[in-house]
Amino acid sequence: MNQTMKGKILVTGGTGFIGSHTTVELQQAGYEVVIIDNLSNSNIEVLDGIERITGVRPVFVEGDCTDRAVVRRLFEDNPGINGIINFAASKAVGESIEKPIMYYRNNINILLNLLELMPEFGVKGFVFSSSCTVYGEPDKNPITEDAPTKKATSPYGATKQICEDIIHDVIRSGSPIKAILLRYFNPIGAHPSAEIGELPNGVPQNLVPYLTQTAIGVRKELSIFGDDYPTRDGSCIRDFINVVDLAKAHVKALERMLEDKSDEALEIFNIGTGNGTSVLELLHSFERATGVKVPHKIAPRRPGDIVQIWADPKRANEVLGWHAEISLDDTMLSAWNWQKRLRERGIM
Ligand code: UFG
Repeated sequence: MNQTMKGKILVTGGTGFIGSHTTVELQQAGYEVVIIDNLSNSNIEVLDGIERITGVRPVFVEGDCTDRAVVRRLFEDNPGINGIINFAASKAVGESIEKPIMYYRNNINILLNLLELMPEFGVKGFVFSSSCTVYGEPDKNPITEDAPTKKATSPYGATKQICEDIIHDVIRSGSPIKAILLRYFNPIGAHPSAEIGELPNGVPQNLVPYLTQTAIGVRKELSIFGDDYPTRDGSCIRDFINVVDLAKAHVKALERMLEDKSDEALEIFNIGTGNGTSVLELLHSFERATGVKVPHKIAPRRPGDIVQIWADPKRANEVLGWHAEISLDDTMLSAWNWQKRLRERGIM
C-alpha cells in the first residue's frame, strides 16, 4: 500500500449519483479510488467534477461488472485494492417491473463476480448499497435494522433482498471477507460545490429531480402523488438523506472493516436522518430555502408507494459514529444550485 494513502478502494458505479459523492469523500479522507462504471446511466464528465472538487482524478475503468473477465482484469491491473463499495446496479423501480430479467441479471451477477474474486485478490472489506425498500410498508416507525423484511413489491426491491441474502450466505460459508450492508433511505441533494449531483436519464421518476426540473421550467408542474394518505398532511412520508451525509457513511463503514473495529463479519446499518418528512413538507422546504415557487398539483396515488417510512439511525450513530448533519433546507438549496449549474452548462 502507498504509505501516504489509507488504502485503495474500488468503487463500482462510481460515476453515478451516490458513487460520485462517495468517491469525493473517500479521496478527501485519504483513500485512493479506482472507479469502474459502464456509463449506462452516468456521464464520463462526472470525473471532471470530482477532480475539480478534490484535485485528484480517480483511476477510471470503463467496463461492465457483470462480465467476470472484466472484473478480473481490473484487479490484475490495479493491485492492492483493500475494499469495494458496490454501487453498480440498475435502480429504477418502474423499469424493473418492465424488465425483470435485466434487473436480476445485472444486480446479482455484479455481486457474485465481486464476492467470488475478492478472496483471490486479497480484498478485505465490502460495502453493499441496500435500501429501506427491503422493509416494505413498516408496521411501525422509526424502523430499526431488526424489523422483519417483507416481500418486495418490485424486481428492483427483490434484487436488494436477494443480494443481502447472498452476502449472508457467502460470509457464513467462511469467506475471509467482511461486509457491511447500508440500507439507504431517500438520498437527495448534491455536493455543496455544485460540481456533481444527480442527473437522471429522461423524465425523472424520483421526487427531487422532478421538483428541481419543474422549478427551472423543464417540466410544467410537479404532481404530488396523493394527499389522502393517513399522514399529518395526507402526502407520503420519507426520510430524505443528504447525499454527502450518505457518502460519509460509506467512509465510516469501510474504516470499520479495514481497521478491524468490529469482530462481526457482517453488519447492517440504516442510513437515514431519523426524521420523517412528507412530500408536501419537502416542497415547502425547497420553496423556503430557495425563494422559488414550484407549480404543482395534487394527483392520484402512485401504485406501489409505501405510505410512510423513516429510519431509526441509532445503530449507525452509535456503532459507526456517523450522523446525518446537513439540514433539509440546505439539502434542497444544494439540489437547486446543482440544477442551476446544469442550466449554465446547457445540459438541462
Ligand atoms: N412523488 C411525487 N411526485 C413525483 C415523484 C414522487 O409525489 O413526481 C412522491 C412519491 O409518491 C413518494 C415520494 O414522492 O411518496 C418519494 O418518491 P421517490 O420516487 O422519490 O422515492 P421512493 O420513496 O418511491 O423510492 C426511493 C428510491 C428507491 C428505493 C425506495 C425505498 O427511489 O430506489 O426509495 O423506499 F427503493
